[in-house]
Amino acid sequence: MIKGWLVVNTFLNLEKFQRVYQMLEISFRKWGIVLSTKKAEDISLKVGFKLMDKPDFIIFWDKDFYLASSLKKQDIRLFNSPNAILYSDNKILMYQKLKEKNIRIPRTFVAPKTFEGINYSHRGFLDQVIDEIGFPIVVKEAYGSFGEQVYLAKDIVELNRIVDEIGYKDFLLQEFISSSRGRDIRINVVGNKAIVSMLRENNNDFRSNISSGGKGSFYKPQKKYIDLAIKATKALKLDFAGVDLLFGENDEPIVCEVNSNPQFVSTLQVTGINLADYIAAYIVKSL
Ligand SMILES: Nc1ncnc2c1ncn2[C@@H]1O[C@H](COP(=O)(O)OP(=O)(O)O)[C@@H](O)[C@H]1O
Ligand SMILES: [Mg+2]
Repeated sequence: MIKGWLVVNTFLNLEKFQRVYQMLEISFRKWGIVLSTKKAEDISLKVGFKLMDKPDFIIFWDKDFYLASSLKKQDIRLFNSPNAILYSDNKILMYQKLKEKNIRIPRTFVAPKTFEGINYSHRGFLDQVIDEIGFPIVVKEAYGSFGEQVYLAKDIVELNRIVDEIGYKDFLLQEFISSSRGRDIRINVVGNKAIVSMLRENNNDFRSNISSGGKGSFYKPQKKYIDLAIKATKALKLDFAGVDLLFGENDEPIVCEVNSNPQFVSTLQVTGINLADYIAAYIVKSL
């Protein structure tokens, strides 16, 4: 009998995450596969641990690169792979990889490295960004989701306030795609196929995330949007992904970001499509 693990984060206990885990379990049960949910502490915290009883595959729904790579070393197939998770989780690595693969992204700049206690103690580095893209400027922490670590600065006063609040965390600065204000497309890709898309709109905020008040609706994107979403998923070597695309000038698609663990409860509510079923079918076929 095929055995799978669903590795989840130790500390996140939000209802919306629990729902995703349940949906995956139910979808695998339809294939006669029992998916056991595991947290890091149920596996092992010890460096160099060896598993006695290995599963046939792991759906890695955490972002813990250390744990993912220890599991991968034991010849277990991980969906998504440790490197793909690493590159999608860190927006700086993600944009660097997308650009390397000639994928269109907003013009993006990386803040120089700093340290705790020193923070971004002088701000001269902001000048080259302001000179090149002007205001408003999008600021994103390297790690973040649900739009919560994404900010928009309309002038230098706001920009400095945001950078003060970021403390010493890694961040990037980015061109604001004004033709896409409060609006983007989420395209869900599984195994290099676009499964379902949503238009997300928010009239009260520049961010269209559903969790920050955006409204989702079923949407059939133009082919160039679908092709770009698949290309971005491949660039990051993800088995499955939720790709956010912005509407550029003349409707040209621009990649906003790529998520390794898309939140598919809202997709189900809005479109009636259950991505967990697609992920299960894809994994069963790949084994
Ligand atoms: N450069 C940009 N120009 C215009 N809107 C943006 C830009 N970057 C992000 N957004 C908006 O902010 C939202 C959140 O940004 P995103 O990079 O997807 O971060 P998160 O991981 O928090 O979802 C996007 O869905 C989009 O609506
Ligand atoms: Mg997003």
